Amino acid sequence: GLGFYTGEDGFLYCDNMRVDDIRAQVKDSPFYLYSRDRITANYRAYQKALEGLDSIIGYAVKANNNLKIVQHLQGLGSGAVLVSGNELKLAIAAGFDPSRTILNGNGKLPWELELAASAGCLVNVDSEFDFDNIAAAARKVGKKVKVLLRINPDVDPQVHAYVSTGLASSKFGIRNSHLQWFLDAIKAEPMVELVGVHSHLGSTITKVNIFRDAAVIMCDFIKKINDEGFKLTYLNIGGGLGIDYTHNPSTKLPSPTDLIDTVRDIVKGLGLTLVIEPGRSMVATSCALVNTVTGVKTNGSKQFIVVDGSMAALIRPSLYDAYQHIELTAPCGGPKAVFDIVGPVCESADFLGKERELATPEPGAGLVVHDAGAYCMAMASTYNLKMRPAEYWVADNKLATIRRGETLDDHLRLFEGL
Ligand code: LLP
Repeated sequence: GLGFYTGEDGFLYCDNMRVDDIRAQVKDSPFYLYSRDRITANYRAYQKALEGLDSIIGYAVKANNNLKIVQHLQGLGSGAVLVSGNELKLAIAAGFDPSRTILNGNGKLPWELELAASAGCLVNVDSEFDFDNIAAAARKVGKKVKVLLRINPDVDPQVHAYVSTGLASSKFGIRNSHLQWFLDAIKAEPMVELVGVHSHLGSTITKVNIFRDAAVIMCDFIKKINDEGFKLTYLNIGGGLGIDYTHNPSTKLPSPTDLIDTVRDIVKGLGLTLVIEPGRSMVATSCALVNTVTGVKTNGSKQFIVVDGSMAALIRPSLYDAYQHIELTAPCGGPKAVFDIVGPVCESADFLGKERELATPEPGAGLVVHDAGAYCMAMASTYNLKMRPAEYWVADNKLATIRRGETLDDHLRLFEGL
């Protein structure tokens, strides 16, 4: 098997290993557990979808910045999409070809832009002041910067407001009505070369036809811009493809091939290089947060399973009311009941799942939160001094540590000498 699945013996597996055997071996809890081969398979699905097109797969490092995972994707041939100078430094350390990296963001700082300029990273222009800062950085480091204009297509991705980015009212990108300002500014600035356009609609998208809607709009922009004497080669359609968090066998979500096929003819027709920026769909399904049950309790009409993991380790349910599938790691004879799965953190927002039907577990049982490879560890905090968990992966049929768990000493070190 590949990734997480229930074996014929009723136990949960990660690749060829029982999760309970891994729990016994590593002793820490909670911890993040990945299947390296699942990440590989996710990457290959994009690679296959893009066959026959000039393309850059820019893995969105924000989804998961574990160095080993980022290096693994680099080794498979991925490019990288970055949203900070530190992500760019990580990408450079991981060996990415800078011409296949892109720096995004609505508040890029001068030092971040100087680093991008000197590394030869592509840069997305987000606003007038951002353009001025890009030009200043290029002049300062004495290197011409290739830019894409992040244009807001005003297409509704029909997702949670917090992860919707391509609407007219969003803080990202430039307005159609401002386009001429950018074209004039770029013509007047020899250190900035316009090579393409970018749009990113949002995240957790489950209807791929909206990528086509946006691409059609983007191509109109490309034609308009080229009529002014530019020669654009990159169409960047952003990231955002959703995954099936429900684990309901009747859910059928579009694949990377479905996504790319919606824009294939447009890209081919104009002879463009297609850039995509997948984060979630590259890594989410490769991982589970593995917790240990502390106990079971009843308050009023509610039953709770209390585990050692919490909103500090995994905040998506608390922040977005996101559903992530929850299972026990071993067969369990306890009576079935409906539980909220909560952590030990001191606030009611601290839950991993609500109203889940599960067999009543004993203290010490393993409980996983699935699809935790994207925006989980990357958004973890040390709230309540619950230190960030260790990360492991199964690779070549063996378990390996890919990030050590943080300790209280790591926290205390920041105060040394003060
Ligand atoms: N490109 C840009 C410009 C983005 O803003 C994002 C994500 C991506 C690519 C990658 O999108 P993906 O393929 O992962 O959907 N923390 C939220 C998700 C925030 C997404 C932010 N932007 C969550 O946990 O659901």
